[in-house]
Amino acid sequence: MCGITGYIGDNKKTTEILIDGLKRLEYRGYDSCGIAAVDAKSALYLKRASGRVDVLAKLVAEEPARGPQAGVGHTRWATHGAPSEDNAHPHTDCASQLVVVHNGIIENYLDLKEKLLAAGHKFKSETDTEVIAHVLEDKLKSLHVQEKAIRSDMLEPVFFEAFRRTLADLKGSFALSVIWAKCPSMVLGARLHSPLVVGLGKGENFIASDVSAFLKHTKRVIFMNDGEIAAVKKDSVDFYTFQGKKVAKESVTIQWDSTMAEKGGYKHFMLKEIHEQAEAVENTLRGRLLPMGGDILNAEMGLTAAAMKAFASVQFVACGTAYHACLVGRVLFENFGVHAGADVASEFTDRARLLDKHTLVVAISQSGETADTLFAVREARAAGAKVLSITNTVGSTLTRESDHVLYTHCGPEIGVASTKAFLGQLAAIYLLAGHFAAARGRMDAGDARKYAEDLLKIPRLIEETLEQEKEIARIAEGFAASEHFLFISRHVNYPIALEGALKIKEISYVHAEGYPAGEMKHGPIAIIYKGMPLLAVAPSGRALDLMAGNIEEAKARGADVVAIVDEASRKTVRASRYITLPKTSELLTPLLTVIPLQLFAYYVALAKKCDIDKPRNLAKSVTVR
Ligand code: AGP
Repeated sequence: MCGITGYIGDNKKTTEILIDGLKRLEYRGYDSCGIAAVDAKSALYLKRASGRVDVLAKLVAEEPARGPQAGVGHTRWATHGAPSEDNAHPHTDCASQLVVVHNGIIENYLDLKEKLLAAGHKFKSETDTEVIAHVLEDKLKSLHVQEKAIRSDMLEPVFFEAFRRTLADLKGSFALSVIWAKCPSMVLGARLHSPLVVGLGKGENFIASDVSAFLKHTKRVIFMNDGEIAAVKKDSVDFYTFQGKKVAKESVTIQWDSTMAEKGGYKHFMLKEIHEQAEAVENTLRGRLLPMGGDILNAEMGLTAAAMKAFASVQFVACGTAYHACLVGRVLFENFGVHAGADVASEFTDRARLLDKHTLVVAISQSGETADTLFAVREARAAGAKVLSITNTVGSTLTRESDHVLYTHCGPEIGVASTKAFLGQLAAIYLLAGHFAAARGRMDAGDARKYAEDLLKIPRLIEETLEQEKEIARIAEGFAASEHFLFISRHVNYPIALEGALKIKEISYVHAEGYPAGEMKHGPIAIIYKGMPLLAVAPSGRALDLMAGNIEEAKARGADVVAIVDEASRKTVRASRYITLPKTSELLTPLLTVIPLQLFAYYVALAKKCDIDKPRNLAKSVTVR
């Protein structure tokens, strides 16, 4: 996820407006940034920097102020190409006359880049985004317009048509903001699977990833829909479909202040990120599922079908929430006939010494900087194992010490308590498990298509699950005074019981334990007291009958049981309260069952007035051992 912005108007402080907008979008990405602006004489100014927007602001401030202009800006969360000044947006065409900023992923950028290179285009970055500027350059040329001969009244229609034709070549997701030095009277924007909103000012207009970028200037906004183009001029904004048909749009007035806007109107980043999980899963799966069996993964990260067949075992390693994702991975891979293990990184040393080149170590880390996980990876590589990392942070240390990297595409996760990154990790693991199963003949083409279809339904099912937020909040508030919680489940949802316990511990500071339900009678059942909250994850599946028995045993000893069920399993389980989820295949249930537990933890913490986004004693990335 990145933050893009655009401005056009009479304000003499265009570059300051762009920089300020980027500062308010930094929660969307902050590894590098840049702005570009063009004045009425078509003089183009472009400045980029690696690092946060403040670095860029200092560079811009050192330069002479510039008059009113059209401009674009970008703050990056890298997906293709490590964080660097060269890879920072804006990106330009060969002649540095067309300037693009982009949020999203151009799935077919390699194909487009190959054709453009063959046509003589010169590239300056490793990014997918730069391809857009060169395609646009080609489209302008293909309109048989010799730039010097363009009549001034033709500049806007030619720019618009070249941009419109460019969009037809792009596959994937994009929110774009584009300027052309020869046409300083217009900023063009387009939206497909990435948010874009227009701000309506007086003698000036804005376009950005979200309203926080320009809310201090105007509260009158127009939200764009997928498949729409915005032609933004200083005194007007017109909207069109990608086919060029004009679209009438209504403006709305935003009631948020700019701080609330950074959180999308949510009270905390954690809640906002819980609500971004459908998008995180969708973006992580996009373009990577079919054909299942390795070619896609080989193209992206050099993991061939032959290698996936050859590995004798898979060993997951991580910390905290990422470790819980490892435990789901172990069940999945074993389900597909692959020997698999999962270890906490800080307890990995002895295991690492037993590894060899026949083992694939899968290291999972949102930050890619967790010291324990990095140390575990070094030990594994010293033993000769191959390492595949699953991470959300392009260019992180972990990626530079791995043989293969599978990125989650969740965008920055600001809340210390990991939520959307966890869902992204699960999505990546399901993706990997499916390719392994297909490559090893454990999943035929029909099964693979069904598996992929079930996975592609998950984002919608996540949204359906989130519709129960109010009911979950009501249940959680009823337990705000409790000091002890138990979470239990079995099979592929046992790790979700652990994750639910961790979530409530880290943001509510109460004692909570996750347990395999089958273990209760081996000791933990002794701690149950009358009214003790016990959350039981019990979807339909092979473990349901045993789970129903465990819930009965807990209730008999006074536990106050909240069961996470689906319509069918609700008939089998006798609990005090139910949170009923949409149905999915048994193996995929962790992608849904964790969500009510995240919301439960959030609303208990909210009722206890805890500092949810920055819990005491915790850091977002633990870079010490
Ligand atoms: C989870 O909510 C915590 N923030 C913590 O357990 C985290 O998952 C762990 O520190 C691992 O971080 P990583 O994914 O960046 O390696």
